Amino acid sequence: MKNLGMNDLRKSYIDFFGKEKGHTILKSFPLIPQNDESLLLINAGMAPLKQYFTGEKKIKNNRATSSQRCVRTGDIERVGKTERHGTYFEMLGNFSFGDYFKREAITWAYEFLTKKVEIDRNDLWVTVYLNDDEAYNIWKDEVGISPDRILRQDKDENFWELEVGPCGPCSEIYVDRGPDHAIDENDNAPGNDNSDRFLEIWNLVFTQFNKDIEGNYIPLAHPNIDTGMGLERIAMVVQQKDNIFEIDVMQDIISEIEKVSGVKYKENKKCDVSIRVIADHAKAMTFLVSDGIIPSNEKRGYVLRRLIRRAYRHGKLLGIKGEFLSQIVSEVIETYKVEYEELETNKDNIIKIITDEEERFQHTIDSGLERLNSLIDEMKKNGETVLDGSEAFKLYDTYGFPLDLTKEILNEENFDLDENKFSEEMENQRQLARNARKSDSGWSLDNIVTDGIDPTEFVGYDILKVEANISNIFDESENISSLNKGDKGIILSDRTSFYAQGGGQVADTGFIYNQGGKAKVTDVQKKNDVFFHSVEVVEGEIKTNQKYTFKVDQERRYDITRNHSATHLLDQALRDVLGDEITQAGSLVDENRLRFDFTYNESLTSEEKRKIEDIINKK
Ligand code: SER
Repeated sequence: MKNLGMNDLRKSYIDFFGKEKGHTILKSFPLIPQNDESLLLINAGMAPLKQYFTGEKKIKNNRATSSQRCVRTGDIERVGKTERHGTYFEMLGNFSFGDYFKREAITWAYEFLTKKVEIDRNDLWVTVYLNDDEAYNIWKDEVGISPDRILRQDKDENFWELEVGPCGPCSEIYVDRGPDHAIDENDNAPGNDNSDRFLEIWNLVFTQFNKDIEGNYIPLAHPNIDTGMGLERIAMVVQQKDNIFEIDVMQDIISEIEKVSGVKYKENKKCDVSIRVIADHAKAMTFLVSDGIIPSNEKRGYVLRRLIRRAYRHGKLLGIKGEFLSQIVSEVIETYKVEYEELETNKDNIIKIITDEEERFQHTIDSGLERLNSLIDEMKKNGETVLDGSEAFKLYDTYGFPLDLTKEILNEENFDLDENKFSEEMENQRQLARNARKSDSGWSLDNIVTDGIDPTEFVGYDILKVEANISNIFDESENISSLNKGDKGIILSDRTSFYAQGGGQVADTGFIYNQGGKAKVTDVQKKNDVFFHSVEVVEGEIKTNQKYTFKVDQERRYDITRNHSATHLLDQALRDVLGDEITQAGSLVDENRLRFDFTYNESLTSEEKRKIEDIINKK
C-alpha cells in the first residue's frame, strides 16, 4: 500500500478520474444546498449534482469528479467512540450522467484502489444488490474477485437513496483490516455494524431512478453512476491508522487540543473520546460557518449550535476553563487552507461567530452542569438509575440546559431519563401559560366548538361601520338570548368590521349598538372564521336576531395600522442592514407601540441601529 497523505490522496483520485478517465473536475460545492428544499446540508458528493442526473443540466463529457465536503449528524452520538464516524468528511466521487455504467464504474474503482493506492486485492470484499447479476458477474469474471467475497444484500443494505431524488441499487467495496480489528471470532465478513474490521470505503451507486415525494421510483431517462468514497477513511486505510482521527491532517488539530487542555491523547480512553469529538466538531463548525451558517435554534443553525455546544462541553470534560474553540478552529483553518483558501479569507468572521456562541453557552452550561452532576451523585448514592423527568424539566426551564445534552450525559453514566414525566411537565407549563392568557381576556377560545356556526363575513378592511345581525350571545359558555346593562358576554354576528386579534396584532375595539342598547367591544377573537366579540353592555339591552351597528374605534384602528406598516418597514430595514439570516420570531402591534422579535447571532451595534432607524424614517 502506498502511504499517501490525505491531500495527496485527494489529488491522486481527482487526477485519475479527471486526467486519465476524462471527467470534468468540479470544486467542492458549499454545504448549504442551492435550490433544494429537501436537504438541510450537503451530505453526499451527488447531492449538489441532482439536476445532472435528471438531465435538467448538462456537463462537458457527461462525466464529473469531485471531492465534496459533507456534514452528516445522524450518527453524532457515535463520533469519537468508533474508529470511523465523523460529522464532517469529504467524499471523493466520480459521476456519469447517462454516459458510462456498471462496467467502467466497477473496473475503474478496482484499478484506482489496486494500482494507484496499491491496496492488496486480497484485502478487498464487495457487496451487490440481491438480484444484480450484472454487477456480480463483473466483479467475479472481469475483476476476478473470488465469489466467497462477493455478498448479495437486500434493499436495506444495497440500495442507496435520500429522502427524494436520484437513487438506485449499489455495490459497496470493503477493506479487511485484519483479525486484530475483529470484535469476536465470528467477525469474519462485512456486515457487522459494530465492528471496525471490515471498513466500507467506497459505494458505487447505479443510479437508475428518481424517487419522488410520495416514494414512487420513477425510472430516469438514462442510467447514471454516482460513487462516493470517504476520503478520511481511505486515508486511514493507506496510512494504516487505527481511526480517522489519527490520519496525517488530524495530527496538528489533536496536538492543539492536547496543548489547550493539558491532556495527552491515548492515555485515557474517556479523554480520547472527548478529544476526538472536539477535533471532529471543530472541523464541521469551521466549514459550516465559512459557508454562511450562523448558530440559531432552527434547521442548519441548530445543527451548528449543537456542534459548538457539544464540543464546548467535551472541553469541560477535559478540564478546559473558559472558551477555547477559537484556538482549535485556527488550527483547522491552517490545516485545510491548502485546499480551501476561503477559510483563510473568512478566518476572523469564523472565529468571532464561534467564540460568541461559546460565550453565550458558557453560563448556561456551567450552572446546568453543576446541578446535573449533583443530581447524578445523589442518584448514585441512592442506587437509582432513572432521572426524574421533572428534574430534567427544571434544568431545561430554569437553566436553559438542552434536553439532548441531559440525555447524553445520563447515557454516559448508563442512566435513563423518565421522558414521560418531562413531557408531562412541559404540557403543564403550556397549560399554565394558556390559563394565564385566558384570565387576561376573561374567556378562552380553546374549548369552543365552532361546528354548525356559520363563518362571519369580514368587511373591515376598509369599512369600519357596518349593519349586522347578532346570531348568538354567550355568557361564559351558556348560549343565551340577551345581555343587560353591566353584563359581560360574547357576541357572534353574520358580518363584522372588527379585526380579530392575530399575528401579534391586537383586536379592534369600538361599539355595537341600536336604539335598544349599546355594548362596548373590548376584544375580538377568531376561530375557524367565526368572530367572537367580547363585550360589556353600557346601555339598555342587547338581543339576538336583531340588527345592530358595528362601529370600530377609527382613530385607534389607524394607530394600529401605522404600527403594523412600521413593522414591515422594520423587518425590511433589518434585512437590508443585517442580511437575510434574520428570522422573525414574533411581533406585537397595538395602538401605542410595536415590538418585533427576531433572531440574529449578535447584539446590534449603535451604528447598525442608526442605519435601521434612518431607513425607516426616510420611508
Ligand atoms: N451517494 C452515495 C453515498 O453517499 C455514493 O456517493 O454513499
